[in-house]
Amino acid sequence: MRAACRMPLDALAPYLLDVPHPGFLPPDALILEPSAPIDWACLFGNEHPIEFEVGFGKGLFLTTQGQARPDTNFLGIEIERKYTLLTATRVARLSLANVKLACTDARWFLKERVRDAVVSALHVYFPDPWWKTRHRKRKLFTREFAEQCARVLKNGGGLHFATDVEDYFTETIGMLKQIPTLQPADSEDGGDGYLTNFERKYRLEGRAIHRARYEKNQACV
Ligand SMILES: C[S@@+](CC[C@H](N)C(=O)[O-])C[C@H]1O[C@@H](n2cnc3c(N)ncnc32)[C@H](O)[C@@H]1O
Repeated sequence: MRAACRMPLDALAPYLLDVPHPGFLPPDALILEPSAPIDWACLFGNEHPIEFEVGFGKGLFLTTQGQARPDTNFLGIEIERKYTLLTATRVARLSLANVKLACTDARWFLKERVRDAVVSALHVYFPDPWWKTRHRKRKLFTREFAEQCARVLKNGGGLHFATDVEDYFTETIGMLKQIPTLQPADSEDGGDGYLTNFERKYRLEGRAIHRARYEKNQACV
């Protein structure tokens, strides 16, 4: 994103979490204890349920859902700085106090900074498939990541997943089946609308979208 298109870093500070990432954060970004699990009520200033979006890209889901559901808090986790700043600008222009962003690797973040059973829903839409063998270590949906998703979800919380890549879908569903606390649930079909920028793009191209939803059921262990 061209610097002129985004707001100055100090205006974005209230929306950015200070988590490890090459130093672009403003000095007054939301300061967190460097290694402790995050206290969400303290961060957002309320006890509303929290939902995560992993890999939010240009942030359409967070801005639409953040406006539509002011009584839900949203944390977006995105590894790319340019998308974090672009989305932070959009969130800041809308003054969305219920949306905050962490620019980091979600695999690390869930494992190190999130307590068990605190997240009401996890949204993972159109993760990069990374087919080439040399890129496989960048892949988001590993068995370990799926286990972390199950761990951080509250009982009854939902894991929402969509992709246009049929093989990735089949592989991920096969892996999620092996996690006893995640039970398949009816997935919302997207209707006429779209949730994310990639969904809009792929629908316009006429690609099929594969969706799944799982619910955490602590009793199934
Ligand atoms: C194909 S894009 C989809 C963006 C958005 N979800 C959408 O549907 O429009 C995948 C996004 O995931 C991000 N990403 C990839 N690996 C990640 C990771 N380990 N942690 C956080 N974000 C990641 C990428 O930078 C990219 O923005």
